[in-house]
Amino acid sequence: MKIIRTVKEMQDWSDGIRSTRRIGFVPTMGYLHEGHLSLVRKAREMGDVTVVSIFVNPMQFGPEEDLVTYPRDFNSDSEMLEKEKTDIIFYPEAQDMYPQRYTTIIQVRGLEDHLCGRTRTGHFIGVATVVAKLFNIVKPHFAVFGQKDYQQLKIIERMTKDLNMDVEIVPCPTVREQDGLAMSSRNTYLSQEERKKALLIYKSIGTVETLFRQGEHHAPTLIEKAKEILGSEAGMDIEYVSICDKDTLEDIDEIKESAILAIACRVGRTRLIDNTILMED
Ligand code: PAJ
Repeated sequence: MKIIRTVKEMQDWSDGIRSTRRIGFVPTMGYLHEGHLSLVRKAREMGDVTVVSIFVNPMQFGPEEDLVTYPRDFNSDSEMLEKEKTDIIFYPEAQDMYPQRYTTIIQVRGLEDHLCGRTRTGHFIGVATVVAKLFNIVKPHFAVFGQKDYQQLKIIERMTKDLNMDVEIVPCPTVREQDGLAMSSRNTYLSQEERKKALLIYKSIGTVETLFRQGEHHAPTLIEKAKEILGSEAGMDIEYVSICDKDTLEDIDEIKESAILAIACRVGRTRLIDNTILMED
C-alpha cells in the first residue's frame, strides 16, 4: 500500500495506470469504520486497483460546525486499509487542495434545497466541489458512495451526469451496529446515555417501515408516528423527518410505489442522520 500526499503525485500515478487498469475510488474523511470498509470491499471487487482518499474537507463545514474537533486517526485508518488490501491512500494537505486564491465552487441546484441542505447552508457546495476535485485528481473509472448519506449520493450522481464526468457512481447500503444504529464517525461523540437515545432513530425507522408494509401510505401520518417515537425521550432534538421522492427529494404526501424516509436529529451536541427506502414488495 502506498500513501500519496500531493495532488501532483496522485495525478501522475493515475495517468500511468488508467489506460490498463480499472481504478476504483472511495472518498472519505477518515476515522474509518465498517461502513467505510464495506465501500472499500465493493471497490476491490469491481476494480483492479483501489484508491481511498482521507481528507477532512474544510469547505463542507459551516462556521458553527465540528471541523476542528472532527475525529482523526490516520494510523488506525491506514492499518485498516492495509488489511483491506487498498493500493493507494490519497492523504492531501488542505493547502494543496485549496491553495491561495482558490475560488471555484460547484453547486447542484434544487437537490441541495431539501433535507440537510436546509440547515447546513453551503454544505453540499463543499461536498460537490471537493468530490469533483478528487475525481480530477484520482481519475477513477468508478467511485463508491454510501446510501447512509442519501442526499450526498443523489447530488454526486446529478453532478457527474450534468458535467459529463466519465465516472460511474456506485451506491452501497448502510452498515449498522448490531443494535441498528447507523455507523458514523460522529458516533464517537456520543456519551453512553446519548448512545442509547440515538437508537430511537432506528426504532422510528422500523416502525414506519412496518406501518408502510401494513398499508399506511399517507406520509404525514407516518412522519407523525416517527416524531412521536423520536420525541419520547428528552435530549433528542428533531431537525427533520421527511418522506420524499427518491430522485428529486421533494416532499411526498401519498406514497405511490416508493419513497425515502430521511431523519436528522441532534442527540446532545451530536448531529445524526439516517434513512431508508420505503418500497412496496
Ligand atoms: P465520510 O463521512 O467519511 O463518508 C465517506 C463515505 O462513507 C460516504 O460515501 C458515506 O456515505 C459512506 N458511509 C459513511 N457511513 C456509512 C455507513 N454506516 N454505511 C455505509 N456507508 C457509509 O461523506 C463524506 O465522508 C464526505 O462528505 C466526502 C464524500 C468524503 C467528501 O468530503
